[in-house]
Amino acid sequence: MPFLSETLARVKPSPTIAVSNLANELKAQGKDVIGLGAGEPDFDTPENIKAAAKAAIDAGKTKYTAVDGIPELKAAICAKLKRDNGLDYIPAQVTVGTGGKQILYNALMATMNPGDEVIIPAPYWVSYPDMVLLAGGEPVAVEAGMETNFKLSPEALEAAITPKTKWFIFNSPSNPTGSAYSAAELKGLTDVLMRHPHVWVMTDDMYEHLVYDGFEFATPAQVEPGLYDRTLTCNGVSKAYAMTGWRIGYAAGPEELIKAMRKIQSQSTSNPCSVSQWAAVEALNGTQEFLEPNNAMFKRRRDLVVDMLNQAEGITCPKPEGAFYVYPSVAGCIGKTSAAGIKIETDEDFARALLEEKGVAVVFGGAFGLSPNFRVSYATSDENLKKACERIQAFCAELS
Ligand SMILES: Cc1ncc(COP(=O)(O)O)c(C=O)c1O
Repeated sequence: MPFLSETLARVKPSPTIAVSNLANELKAQGKDVIGLGAGEPDFDTPENIKAAAKAAIDAGKTKYTAVDGIPELKAAICAKLKRDNGLDYIPAQVTVGTGGKQILYNALMATMNPGDEVIIPAPYWVSYPDMVLLAGGEPVAVEAGMETNFKLSPEALEAAITPKTKWFIFNSPSNPTGSAYSAAELKGLTDVLMRHPHVWVMTDDMYEHLVYDGFEFATPAQVEPGLYDRTLTCNGVSKAYAMTGWRIGYAAGPEELIKAMRKIQSQSTSNPCSVSQWAAVEALNGTQEFLEPNNAMFKRRRDLVVDMLNQAEGITCPKPEGAFYVYPSVAGCIGKTSAAGIKIETDEDFARALLEEKGVAVVFGGAFGLSPNFRVSYATSDENLKKACERIQAFCAELS
């Protein structure tokens, strides 16, 4: 009898962790490594949010709470969904978990039956397919390549839907590409979904506030109110409020689904951290003033990285609408050999050689289901970005 679960055998270890491990090893050997792999803002949680957490500790808000969130946070989430997205929800339709990740996981655990399919546009956030597998479902990756700015076409969505499709996972702005769908582009997809009433929508709006050049964020239930009864709108405070370590994510959707998600959480982790929940109340209800200057900084960094990467021989880097990632293609480098003699046959070879020879850590595109590309996170200082891009340019110039 095998000791490890059979389900685990279907899940692959995180390729992003393999890259981080190699980067850490090289750092430990004293090598000068610049990491462009991190999926989190490089600045601190705003002071008003930290103060709310300290006040919660002092007030003894350190005990178990309701399993899926304190009423104050659920009220703040309902107000946020109305204010930012024009969506009406009551607290019974809202659930709070330990990060956006747990929310997505709960939703899949609560709904997957053997054979159920989940459509995931590729490139995708690394966790979606493996979460579907862990929950006993079948991920169905559908390519959305650079020619469509990494956006899924309505035709490709329609072609992927089968009688077994349970969910369509939608993520805009996207990790790993930064691409974001305008309301009109999204409408093309929601029109398809309206023709297939058995398909539910799990929208991961984690990067909602990180959009540039006046881009207007849109979410499925807002663009197509006809989908309200089969949409789970997922979000969290991790990225916009620089709160990745606090672990608060949330979702709003039909009450029956929310109840099922709560059941999973009640038998696994119980409530998310009480202090973090009070911090999240302040994040959502308090001043949103810092979002604008932060976005101005991210926009500047995006422009810097896109410009510099497009000057590297063999690299093509589209300029995305949001998040803090770019997803350049290395098609022009495939088949070449690095200065140290590594043959670049895949984006994984490219990323490994770049790290070993120039000390720049990026995540290869294969990890996100679309090659030959790599992901750069520009949530690091201008100085680091400039240095890293210069090294990438030098690496490419030396390819032969
Ligand atoms: C697209 C996307 N969704 C969800 C998450 C998870 O966020 P959290 O840290 O709140 O669990 C991430 C984090 O990287 C992400 O990129």
